[in-house]
Amino acid sequence: MSDKNYILAIESSCDDTGAAIIEGNKILSNVVASQKIHEIYGGVVPELASRAHQQNIVPVVDQALKQANIKKEDLKAIAYTRGPGLMGSLLVGGSFAKSFSQSLNIPLIEVNHMQAHILANFIDDANIDKPTFPFLCLTVSGGHTQIVKINNYFDMEILGETIDDAAGEAFDKAGKILNLPYPAGPIIDKKSKIGNPTKFTFAKPKIEGLNFSFSGFKTSVLYFIQKEQKNNPNFIEENIDDLCASIQRSIVNILMDKVQKAIQQTGIKQIAIAGGVSANSEIRERLLEGEDKFGWKTFIPKFAYTTDNAAMIAMVGTLKYNHKIFTENTTKSVAKYHI
Ligand code: KG4
Ligand code: ZN
Repeated sequence: MSDKNYILAIESSCDDTGAAIIEGNKILSNVVASQKIHEIYGGVVPELASRAHQQNIVPVVDQALKQANIKKEDLKAIAYTRGPGLMGSLLVGGSFAKSFSQSLNIPLIEVNHMQAHILANFIDDANIDKPTFPFLCLTVSGGHTQIVKINNYFDMEILGETIDDAAGEAFDKAGKILNLPYPAGPIIDKKSKIGNPTKFTFAKPKIEGLNFSFSGFKTSVLYFIQKEQKNNPNFIEENIDDLCASIQRSIVNILMDKVQKAIQQTGIKQIAIAGGVSANSEIRERLLEGEDKFGWKTFIPKFAYTTDNAAMIAMVGTLKYNHKIFTENTTKSVAKYHI
């Protein structure tokens, strides 16, 4: 048995089955099995996601142990995503983590997926700066859009969040209208690079404070496309790059307006990003531009730690392990889990 504090982390909140091994703040392996099955349905089908997790979980954990070059007997604790997420998906990872921790007789650590997205900014990586407390985080994924104030590792306040669709859903639903496969976010990002972002304009939500709304935006894209297709049935195909660039510009403008407002209101000038949508190149560019323009500092985790992954769960696992914050084998998985 090793004297190192190796922790295994499991992520299964949505449609990615992940396992990672961490030692201190260093990730030794980070394995993700993504589920292709949902592409043809244009979105995640919960029942199919749970079944795929059940198929993937043992091989993914096995792979994570092998890549880290350790044996299961070397593990000191097991961390897993308790929520938020799809219940059927959470139950697979949760049940696996509980059984494994019991059979190895090591502590179990429950992790909030949204906290983990934020704390991914603390994974040890020589090339990446870490924020200091307090800092702001724009958490943007397929299920969430939040601006969070982080006072300490486990003391976080949501300053604003979406009242309807998440930013990732706005990308994916707009993509569906353009007949792009799911998830459309990365495809829109790629096509935007060669499109004109000012060619088309869409409705901007009028929403007070730091909250977000994307449902009106999606409807405005839909009505616009339907109107144009009446005159030209090939409108989408002929304008796909400009449509993508204009849609992306609109979504990023909505996000950046609120980021700027949050910085003004709090006076906090450190802004981190987290969640799958933070992989977006225009968001990254605009945040970096703001460093010169507005004097804030941006923190961007490595790409592999922004979309759903177990490395971020492992990061929280290590922090909780160091503070001996363990959980019981009877802890329930929760679809909604406030940070
Ligand atoms: O965090 P994540 O992997 O899963 C959730 O917890 O939801 O985020 C997935 C979301 C999807 O909506 C996907 O379209 C979006 O992140 N996404 C992107 C990009 N890469 C992933 N959206 C815009 N630009 C990207 N480059
Ligand atoms: Zn996520």
